[in-house]
Amino acid sequence: MGSRLAVVTGAQRGIGQAIARALACSEHDVVIADLHAQNSASWFREHWGCRGRVYCLKVDVSDESSVCSLFDQIQTLGLPVPDVLINNAATQVWGPLVDMSLDDWNRTLSVNITGMFLMTREYARRRREVSATQGAIVNMGSGCNHLAFPNLAAYVSSKGAVEMFTKAASLELGEQGIRVNCIAPGAIETDRTQSETDNYADSWSPLTPLNRVGTVNDVAKAVVALVGENMGFVSGETIRVDGGLFGRSVWPEAY
Ligand SMILES: NC(=O)c1ccc[n+]([C@@H]2O[C@H](COP(=O)([O-])OP(=O)(O)OC[C@H]3O[C@@H](n4cnc5c(N)ncnc54)[C@H](O)[C@@H]3O)[C@@H](O)[C@H]2O)c1
Repeated sequence: MGSRLAVVTGAQRGIGQAIARALACSEHDVVIADLHAQNSASWFREHWGCRGRVYCLKVDVSDESSVCSLFDQIQTLGLPVPDVLINNAATQVWGPLVDMSLDDWNRTLSVNITGMFLMTREYARRRREVSATQGAIVNMGSGCNHLAFPNLAAYVSSKGAVEMFTKAASLELGEQGIRVNCIAPGAIETDRTQSETDNYADSWSPLTPLNRVGTVNDVAKAVVALVGENMGFVSGETIRVDGGLFGRSVWPEAY
């Protein structure tokens, strides 16, 4: 059993799943909150072998009533108000801006940004009701918090907003003892990113100063550190977990 409760959105797979596991193995009970219920809580408990309890609940982070219902279900299960919230769920649509449908644009922004707002607001409201202190939120950003990538206009717009939302939320939630930070992963190998190109690792490793792609555990370890006591005075910050990839500027070869 863990001593703190963490909710991780989009944690049925990929980076979110690794974060949930790392938290469950480091003194947290974990709620896996996802739109899709691929694996059950008992599956995760069996395969992870962590001490923390694991719960799987369905949520659409872009839907206000679904988000409220998630926190109601947590209460109904007899769990405490969560200590930690990881806003990890996101969606991505590839294609030229001129061909993008309004539906794709709206869906990307409503999952990636409105979802982060709704989850953050509900988490902070519930914590206020019980006068809880010492909370931590981590929002999942990207290299495109700062840099534009082609054919991803909606996604990069949403990730740019993640960083400013992180700062704005940290200003307002600090008085409740809630720290709000952002992790910006670089090229991380997941089932999703592997399906984007024939050889994901060979494409991105040469561009990355540490000469490899990231693993989901690289990101998960940074999240565990960021929500921990050693980072107790860090708020409103974005930490890149990218092996140096997006610190590189565009620079003429002649130099
Ligand atoms: N993989 C990378 O290289 C990379 C790089 C930079 C940033 N990121 C960010 O890291 C996070 C996780 O990335 P990933 O590659 O693991 O993604 P992924 O697509 O593999 O997983 C996303 C998860 O979110 C869930 N989800 C989608 N819409 C949802 C909704 N409306 N409500 C609840 N859950 C929903 C999906 O079911 C899925 O389980 C995202 O925020 C992504 O933008 C990833």
